[in-house]
Amino acid sequence: MKIKLDHVSMRFGGFYAVRDISISISKGEYLTLLGPSGCGKTTLIKVIAGILRPTEGRVLVDGEDVTGVPLEDRDTGYVFQNIALFPHMTISENVGYSPRARGLSKAAAGETSAEHLELVRMLDRAGMLPGELSGGEQQKIAIARALASGSGMLMLDEPLSALDARVRVELRYDIRRLVKKLGITVIHVTHDQEEAMAVSDRIIIMRAGRIAEVGTPLEVYRDPQTLFAAYFIGETNLLECTVAEKTKAGKTVVRLRGGQTVRAAKSPYAVGDAVVISVRPEHVYPAKGGLEAEVTETVFMGTYWRVRALSETRDYIDYNVPFGEKVPEIREKVHLVFNKKAAKVFARPEKGLEEAIGLE
Ligand SMILES: Nc1ncnc2c1ncn2[C@@H]1O[C@H](COP(=O)(O)OP(=O)(O)OP(=O)(O)O)[C@@H](O)[C@H]1O
Ligand SMILES: [Mg+2]
Repeated sequence: MKIKLDHVSMRFGGFYAVRDISISISKGEYLTLLGPSGCGKTTLIKVIAGILRPTEGRVLVDGEDVTGVPLEDRDTGYVFQNIALFPHMTISENVGYSPRARGLSKAAAGETSAEHLELVRMLDRAGMLPGELSGGEQQKIAIARALASGSGMLMLDEPLSALDARVRVELRYDIRRLVKKLGITVIHVTHDQEEAMAVSDRIIIMRAGRIAEVGTPLEVYRDPQTLFAAYFIGETNLLECTVAEKTKAGKTVVRLRGGQTVRAAKSPYAVGDAVVISVRPEHVYPAKGGLEAEVTETVFMGTYWRVRALSETRDYIDYNVPFGEKVPEIREKVHLVFNKKAAKVFARPEKGLEEAIGLE
């Protein structure tokens, strides 16, 4: 099913939880809403699903205006952020509820229920009540119930948040595989950027009720268009500087706070402009002639060490040392260079960096 949001807003009193959102979602697309707590993700997914009626704008499904049509009258599976299973029904009955409501016989609904419980590896709990399961187990049941609804659209609000890391990773692939096989359109809310990168066709990065940026995982990670997205997706080092020079090829040379110049990527900015460069830790390397810095922290991350160093420009710079290579000592002097193509240049926000990347 195709979904279209046309200038959708949701206001509570004088407060806009969602503001002027327009986007088209293709049939079979897996879209995630990613953003900090309180940015309006749950409000937006509820508006799309018909749980909330938007105060402004329209929601269209397959070209039909469904604004205000309640969830129960839609062909939509929904996983609530707070799970919400039917407490007095067994696990099997919970998952078989929609198939039954669709008119399947008790036996056929039971079979559908069993298939989906198998998928989330909870078939052995079929006869239990929701209250007898842990939070994470209930979440798996909620996912099975939504998938068993057989709907053309699936709305998942933080469906994996209560699960342990290993199950979370397994289930995210299971869900994606299944919905892709069935051609279901999915909207998946998460504040876990790694999860968003792993499952999505496209990611909407939300901030304070609005869309900050939209793109494929690769686009938003490799080539963010806003400082907020660069900061929110993945990890990055932000350094305030000014444009010192533009090369013939359009590359930018910037002057850091301490007066040092470094090469950065192409940018539209002119000499003298106040800018910020964003360099991810994996694009920083120790090398001769680099920026001098003193190591302040080293953290073992498994396949690499994360090193933090305070540079002569008074910027903290994070970089990675692959496992097996020599890890610097605390207070050791290192020299750091940036991969110039990966040093993205953004305009320095007038109200300051803090405001531009603030999560509110
Ligand atoms: N019924 C309501 N009445 C008033 N304000 C509300 C209501 N529902 C949500 N809000 C406000 O709207 C904002 C967005 O809330 P929402 O639940 O959509 O955030 P979220 O992005 O899902 O956050 P989280 O990641 O914590 O789940 C919050 O500031 C919240 O207080
Ligand atoms: Mg929420």
